[in-house]
Amino acid sequence: MSAFFALLAGAFSLLCFYLYLKHNYWKRNGIPTVRGCVPLVGHILPMITKRMNFSEFLRLVYEEHKDHSMVGIYKGTRPVLIIRDPNLVKIVLQTNFSNFHENGRKVVAEVDPLLSKHPLFTGEVVANGGLGIEGYCFKEEVGANAFHKLVGNTFAESLGTIITFHYPDINRLLKVRFLPKSMDRYFRNVVSENLKIRRNDSTPRIGDVIDEENVTAHAVFLYLEGLETTSITMNFICHDLATNPEIQEKLRKEVRSTIEKHGGLTFEALKDMTYMNQVISESQRLHSAVGFLPKICSEEFELQGSDGLTYRIKPGTEVDISIFGLHTDPKYWENPDVFDPERFNDEREQTIEKMTFLPFNVGPRICVEMRMALLQMKACLATLLSNYKLELSPRTQVPLKLSPYYFMSEPVGGNWAYISKL
Ligand code: HEM
Repeated sequence: MSAFFALLAGAFSLLCFYLYLKHNYWKRNGIPTVRGCVPLVGHILPMITKRMNFSEFLRLVYEEHKDHSMVGIYKGTRPVLIIRDPNLVKIVLQTNFSNFHENGRKVVAEVDPLLSKHPLFTGEVVANGGLGIEGYCFKEEVGANAFHKLVGNTFAESLGTIITFHYPDINRLLKVRFLPKSMDRYFRNVVSENLKIRRNDSTPRIGDVIDEENVTAHAVFLYLEGLETTSITMNFICHDLATNPEIQEKLRKEVRSTIEKHGGLTFEALKDMTYMNQVISESQRLHSAVGFLPKICSEEFELQGSDGLTYRIKPGTEVDISIFGLHTDPKYWENPDVFDPERFNDEREQTIEKMTFLPFNVGPRICVEMRMALLQMKACLATLLSNYKLELSPRTQVPLKLSPYYFMSEPVGGNWAYISKL
């Protein structure tokens, strides 16, 4: 019995020593570490206990370390570097992209085969434009497999998504799926049916050169990347317009006069709506749909911060960039909490510090559909504003707080507005 306890004590001491070594990695490397590291769990406890979502956590880390260019956290025992310096952001996203070209959102290939093949891809546009199918997003009596119903809980921050994205090594053992089986089946059926139809058509050659699994993976990604990002962004723009009636009126005037000038809501008219660009950018600054950019180092590189901190980053190390932090840093934005579309007028836009505005990312991994997304949102806003007025509903919980149950930007209680015909 005493031998058993001695063995247990030995194993426990070994575990403590192992954790001590692991959780002191940043200290050993001279990088400041965020407070509150829990043995084995690292800094992910607030996400597991649903106190906040990861983007909000990174914003806090960013704000609390304003004197540092880099700061370290642990996801489990895995060290993750947070970079705050726009110069370092430029290195990772642009100038030395080849050293950081891997995406930080990793899934286990055997568990999520479709997600593991995607290229890092609203509702109806993604369904029509990307997949060439009818989405039935605007039909009330939606069928059991309607496109929009699929979004369901895909983006809910469950224990599954936390394990998938923050603890990929553990997920190799636990094998928790990110993409629900029903969605996996749905997409395989849709793509398979569509390929059959198109193969019978003599003109399109799709599916002859790429295998079906790959086409399906791209379809899933197009849906995941395109649907939520655009609808979240639109949702926040409407909220900002509802809370700022003068700006809403100014934008409505631009919409109406531009439509009149061009004789309708044409592509040229949308291009001409420059104040609308300002409104969209300012709303994206305050409430970016994507809160952070996770990247993985693929080739060793020496990062040198403006504060003198240096760190030789090794392949496999995750680097996170807080979009929320940079977008609301008073060092780069005067009165960062104020909704002021004039920040993006021709003159003032020139003065915006590079790499502090990243709603679509920058560099080689910039959102491939940025132009389509902007065009789609502009057309939608122009149609809405020329005919309707938005007013904030008291159901909206102001100030907005992001839900810990969702890993993209979703306000607790939702954004509510009264929409009345003009
Ligand atoms: C307002 C709407 C949108 C926003 C804010 C947005 C934002 C972003 C961001 C921040 C990234 C970089 C992700 C990263 O590096 O980790 C990205 C990448 C991407 N987005 Fe978007 N996106 C939007 C709409 C769309 C739409 C409509 C589609 C397609 C239908 C799309 C397809 C993609 C793809 C394929 C990538 C990956 C590019 C690559 O890794 O090379 N996005 N988007």
